[in-house]
This record gives sequence, structure tokens and C-alpha cells, in this order.
Amino acid sequence: MTEDFTGRTAIVTGASRGIGLAIAQRLGEAGANVVLTSRKQDSADAAAAQVGGNALGVGAHAVDEEAAQRCVELTLERFGSIDILVNNAGTNPAYGPLIEQDHARFAKTFDVNLWAPLLWTSLVVTAWMGEHGGAVVNTASIGGLHFGPYMGMYNATKAALIHVTKQLALELSPRVRVNAICPGVVRTRLAEALWKDHEDPLSASIALGRIGEPVDVAGAVAFLVSDAASWITGEAMVIDGGQVLGDASAFRS
Ligand SMILES: NC(=O)c1ccc[n+]([C@@H]2O[C@H](COP(=O)([O-])OP(=O)(O)OC[C@H]3O[C@@H](n4cnc5c(N)ncnc54)[C@H](OP(=O)(O)O)[C@@H]3O)[C@@H](O)[C@H]2O)c1
Repeated sequence: MTEDFTGRTAIVTGASRGIGLAIAQRLGEAGANVVLTSRKQDSADAAAAQVGGNALGVGAHAVDEEAAQRCVELTLERFGSIDILVNNAGTNPAYGPLIEQDHARFAKTFDVNLWAPLLWTSLVVTAWMGEHGGAVVNTASIGGLHFGPYMGMYNATKAALIHVTKQLALELSPRVRVNAICPGVVRTRLAEALWKDHEDPLSASIALGRIGEPVDVAGAVAFLVSDAASWITGEAMVIDGGQVLGDASAFRS
């Protein structure tokens, strides 16, 4: 591990398990104070207990503005700065063709996946980063870069999140860097339908021969929020083992 985040503080939303927990663990191992959020306080506490160093769990629905504001204030009280924000909380209640979706599922998907990153970025920039600088990473998806069956609504939120990331990178320049990550299929609960019953054929189709693990994503996030990435902003980094390139098996003899 090359990053050293000693003395820096990170908020990671949606960190009770999966990719968010792995990111929180990685940042904590590299010395950061880490605040982990989840919809439930006890899940956030349990996750914080799995992170080394100074970690704090905060129950905060990502779309709940009061809870988000409270989390930002609590973070500043406890640790004195917010240098890193990872907008990772995500949801996909709208599985299926677009024309079969209703407004409730549309609103929930866009609220959690698109509005919440904007809300948390705004609060953190107002409270700290606007004056002191910082790095924001938004968890998008390769789904935001291409088209696939059943995931149209979710993918639209991630495409919009990539756009918002680039817009924010300009609006918040030069003090705050804003980047997105675009993971491929990663072994988590949210993505179970994408890998659980067909991991072998899926892995065979991916250039690097396997689906992702949460730690694969965490390492890339640690890089993006580190000083080594100090000249990178507005980027949407694909972390997918080559999945977005297409079916690799056709290229092998
Ligand atoms: N896994 C993949 O293949 C993949 C690929 C591309 C992108 N992503 C993105 O990666 C991110 C993390 O997903 P994951 O795969 O790690 O899924 P996961 O293991 O199911 O974790 C989702 C996390 O988000 C939290 N969460 C969900 N809704 C929330 C809300 N309204 N407010 C606050 N927290 C909320 C969950 O916490 P609680 O349930 O405890 O509240 C949990 O910690 C998401 O943005 C997802 O879209 C995943």
C-alpha cells in the first residue's frame, strides 16, 4: 500500500458492506479517520468496528438531508476536517424494461443514485472542502457507459452521475477534485442477480478472467483520493477486469 492518509478524514456513504465497506477499510488501513454510513445505525456501527484506526458509524439514509447534515457536523466535531468524500450508496429497485417502470421506482433510483451524491457533495463542500480543498469520488458503473437488458433505469442514473461528476469537477475547480469510478460486476449483494448463478461463463467472458471483488475497487478509490492523483479530475475510471471491452473468450484460441 503506497497511500498515506494519516491526519485526513473520509466519509464513505453506503459502507455497511460490499464496495463501500472495502473502501472504508482500505482508507482506514492507510491511516484515515473514516466515517461510514448506512440506513441503520447498528449496521453502520458494526461496519465501523471492522475498520482499523479511527472509525465512526453514522445511521443516515443517503437522501435524508437532515441526517446528512448531522453526519457532516458530527464528522467535523469528531475529526476536525472532511478531506475525502466517497458517494457510494446505491440502489436498484427498478429491474426490468424501462417502459415497465413506475414513478416510485424511478424516483427512488434517481434519488439515491444521483441526488444523494449531489446533496452530500454540496454539504461537504459548504462545510469544509470549499475552503480547504478535498477529493470526491462518485461510485458510478460501467452500466453508465453502455446499454444492457433489465438495468435501463439504474444505468441511466449512473450515466447521469458520470455527467454530474464532470460538471462538478469544473464547478468546484481548482480546490476540489471530483472523479467517478465505473466498476464492472463485483461480488456484492446488490449485484447478486448478475453473477450468482452464472459466475463461470461470466468470468470466462471477461478479459482478466474473473468478476471483481470489493477490494479491487477499493484500491482504485484509494489512488483517486490520494496525492498521487492530484492532477486527475473529472475522470470516470473503469475498474472491470476488461468487461466493457466485450466478450474476451472470442479472442482466445
Ligand atoms: N456490485 C457491483 O457489481 C457494482 C457495479 C457497479 C457499481 N456498483 C455500485 O457500487 C455501490 C455499492 O454497491 P455494492 O455493490 O457494494 O452493494 P451492497 O453490497 O448491496 O452495498 C450497498 C451499500 O449501500 C447502502 N445503502 C443502500 N441504500 C442506501 C441509502 N438509501 N442510504 C444509505 N446507504 C444505503 C447499504 O447499506 P444499508 O443496507 O446498511 O443501508 C450498503 O452499505 C453502489 O453505488 C452500486 O450502484 C456496484
